[in-house]
Amino acid sequence: MSEKKSGGGDFRYAVGESKVPWHAVGEFFNSEDVLEMVKFILPDDGKADYQEKLATVAANLEELAKSSGKATKLTLGKKVAEAEEISRNYFGSKYACFLDNWTGGMEIAYKLAGIGAGDEVIMPAVTFIATMAYPLSVGAKIVFADIDPETINLDPADVARKITPKTKMIVPVHLGGYPVDMDPIMELAAKHNIMVMEDAAHGMGGAYKGRKLGSIGHFGGFSLHEVKNINSLGEGGVLLTSEDFAGSQLAGGRFLGLDFTRKIKDWLYDISPLTDRFGNPQVAQNHSATEIQALGMILQMKRLDQIIAIRREAAEYMNKVLSQEEGILVEKADTADTYGTHHLYLLRIDPEVVGGNIQTLSKKLQEKGLTNITHFGPMYRFKIMKDLGYDEEAIAKTCPNTEKMFYHSYTHLPLYPLTREQLEYQAQAVVEAVREMKQGK
Ligand SMILES: Cc1ncc(COP(=O)(O)O)c(C=O)c1O
Repeated sequence: MSEKKSGGGDFRYAVGESKVPWHAVGEFFNSEDVLEMVKFILPDDGKADYQEKLATVAANLEELAKSSGKATKLTLGKKVAEAEEISRNYFGSKYACFLDNWTGGMEIAYKLAGIGAGDEVIMPAVTFIATMAYPLSVGAKIVFADIDPETINLDPADVARKITPKTKMIVPVHLGGYPVDMDPIMELAAKHNIMVMEDAAHGMGGAYKGRKLGSIGHFGGFSLHEVKNINSLGEGGVLLTSEDFAGSQLAGGRFLGLDFTRKIKDWLYDISPLTDRFGNPQVAQNHSATEIQALGMILQMKRLDQIIAIRREAAEYMNKVLSQEEGILVEKADTADTYGTHHLYLLRIDPEVVGGNIQTLSKKLQEKGLTNITHFGPMYRFKIMKDLGYDEEAIAKTCPNTEKMFYHSYTHLPLYPLTREQLEYQAQAVVEAVREMKQGK
C-alpha cells in the first residue's frame, strides 16, 4: 500500500517493547519444519543422490538454526509491503495491494466501484467464473459482450451496443495474455461515466500502447495462482489503482475495514466501511496475504520479463510451424501497440477447411498426448446462471461469435515450461491431427 497510515496492518502485536513479550507469531517454525518446506519445494524425483544431499541440508539447517533468529511476522508485514512497492514501480500505478488471490482483489474493486443489486456489469462471454463471482453474489446483472474471433477477447463494438443507463462497470479480460484493445473501452467508460476494471489475471507484464496491462483501467490486477506466468507459492493476487478515493482504502478493503487512523473509546482502532464511488458504505472482508506468499512473488518477479520472452519465442515457433498448414489459424502476433504475455497459446481452426470442428481436433490431440486447456468457455452456459434466472439461449443469440468460436474453432495449448522437444512435438501433433481430419480419418 502506498498510504502507510491507512490501517489494515495487523494489530495483535502492536505492543512495543515489553519484558513479557506477546509475539506476533505464537509458535515458531524450527529447522525440522524448514527442512520439510525444502523437501516440499524441491521434492525427491528419484535421483540416486537426493537423500545424501538432503542429509547435508538437514545438518546445515540444524547448525544454521543455532545462529539464526526466528521469523516473527508471517502476515501483512515487510515482504507484503515490498511486493506492493515492486508492483507500483513495475506496473506504474499509484497504489498496489498484495492479497490472498485476485478474486479477492476484484471483490474489493467491485465494492469500491459501488456494484450492487440491479447494476449491470459488462464482461466478455468467455472468461473464468472468478470475473463474475462478486457481481453475481450481490444480485448485479452480468451482461456478456461477444468476443473478437481473432483474440477471444471482448469486442469493444459489442460493449458499446450493450451499454444501458444501468451499466456501472466494464471488465475487459486479457485472455491468455493477449491485450484487449483498451482505447475504445476507456473512451466508452469516459463517455458514460462507467468504471473499468482490467482482469489481467493472465496479463502480468504485458502492455498496451506502452502502458502495462492492469494499470490502464480505473482498477486492474493479476492472479498469482500456481498456473499463472509467475506465482506466489500457489495463491496470490495484486490489485492496482491510481484512483485516490480507492487507493487510500485498499488496506481496509483487504483486512475487514480495520482503521488505525481512528479509535473508538478505550480501544486501539475503529472499523470503517469502505466508501464506494457514490459515497455509500460497503463492508470489507478478509483477503490478507502471508509474508511467504509475498516473498514468492518478489522472487519470481525478477524473472517475469525473461519468462515472457521465452513464452513469446515459443508462441512464435508454434505460429511458424502451424502457419504452413491450411485451415489452422495461428495466434495473432503482437502489433506495435501490444505486448502479450503468452500465458496460453490460442489455437484456432477453420472447421470448413479442416473438415471437422475443434472438439474432434481436441480429442485427437489428447490421443497424441497433448494437454489442451479447455478452461475458458461461455459463462452463460453454467448451471448457476440458469438457477439465477438468466436465459442462456437468449444470451447465446447476442453472442454469435462466442457460440461459433467455442463450439467449432478454438482451444488453448501450453507454452511453458516446455522443452524444445515437447514444443516441436506439440506443433507437429497439431499439424498431423489436422491432416488426418482433412483425410476424413
Ligand atoms: C481470467 C481469470 N480471472 C480471474 C482469475 C482468478 O484469479 P485467482 O485464482 O487468483 O483468484 C483467474 C484464475 O485462474 C482467471 O483465469
